[in-house]
Amino acid sequence: MSTISIIGSGKMAAAIAGRIAKAGHTVEVLGRNATKAQAIADQIGAGATTGTYGAAPAGDIVILAVPYAGAAAAVSDFGSTLAGKVVVDIANPVAPDLSGLVTPPGSSGTQEIAKGLPAEAHIVKAFNTIFGHVLAKGEPLDAFIAADDAEAKKRVSTFLESLGLRPFDVGGLHMAQTLEALGLMMIGLAKNGAGTWDFAMHVDIG
Ligand SMILES: NC(=O)c1ccc[n+]([C@@H]2O[C@H](COP(=O)([O-])OP(=O)(O)OC[C@H]3O[C@@H](n4cnc5c(N)ncnc54)[C@H](OP(=O)(O)O)[C@@H]3O)[C@@H](O)[C@H]2O)c1
Repeated sequence: MSTISIIGSGKMAAAIAGRIAKAGHTVEVLGRNATKAQAIADQIGAGATTGTYGAAPAGDIVILAVPYAGAAAAVSDFGSTLAGKVVVDIANPVAPDLSGLVTPPGSSGTQEIAKGLPAEAHIVKAFNTIFGHVLAKGEPLDAFIAADDAEAKKRVSTFLESLGLRPFDVGGLHMAQTLEALGLMMIGLAKNGAGTWDFAMHVDIG
């Protein structure tokens, strides 16, 4: 049982917050729009709170649930309060027309966001390959994670397991590039071959 902070109060923030509350953790929603943050906390119940946007998050794990385009600004808004935190980046840094990624060659959104974090923060890529409405159903799902810091990765793995997700470590932070490409592939699949956004990636071992 722990407190998990979420920066953002949109669709993914709501879906992740719901899942966290069901797992018995306490959710703190940190939205720049206080009304929207409060609405999520009210909807979640289970002791969910709203902190002050830009002030120190209550949780040791802080989920950054904002679009890639706003991530650097959000990280800057929290500044040194993120020192010592495990920051989970969930962004799919896709172009507005969903045609491709907007990240610099050889980098990922997560690696770019990391540049704005205090040195004492540890960033982990997770959740970007799960659609919010699928996550919100509460079913078991596979969850891919990438990070350089082994301890942070372990903590996020344990956290994901507590949500009923099956964590799969795909490697170091550079693999966030691949996870973001996978996120883009899922969008292409939804718009083309699958013909629906109602699906999840699943690893079938053996
Ligand atoms: N939706 C999905 O199925 C899905 C799946 C996987 C990953 N993701 C990723 O999850 C992230 C959130 O997606 P979403 O669907 O939840 O988006 P959303 O519903 O549009 O919500 C975005 C949230 O980010 C906040 N925000 C935007 N710019 C900000 C800034 N500069 N500073 C602070 N907060 C800012 C918004 O605040 P306001 O309400 O004040 O505008 C809003 O609360 C994105 O990176 C997306 O790529 C989404």
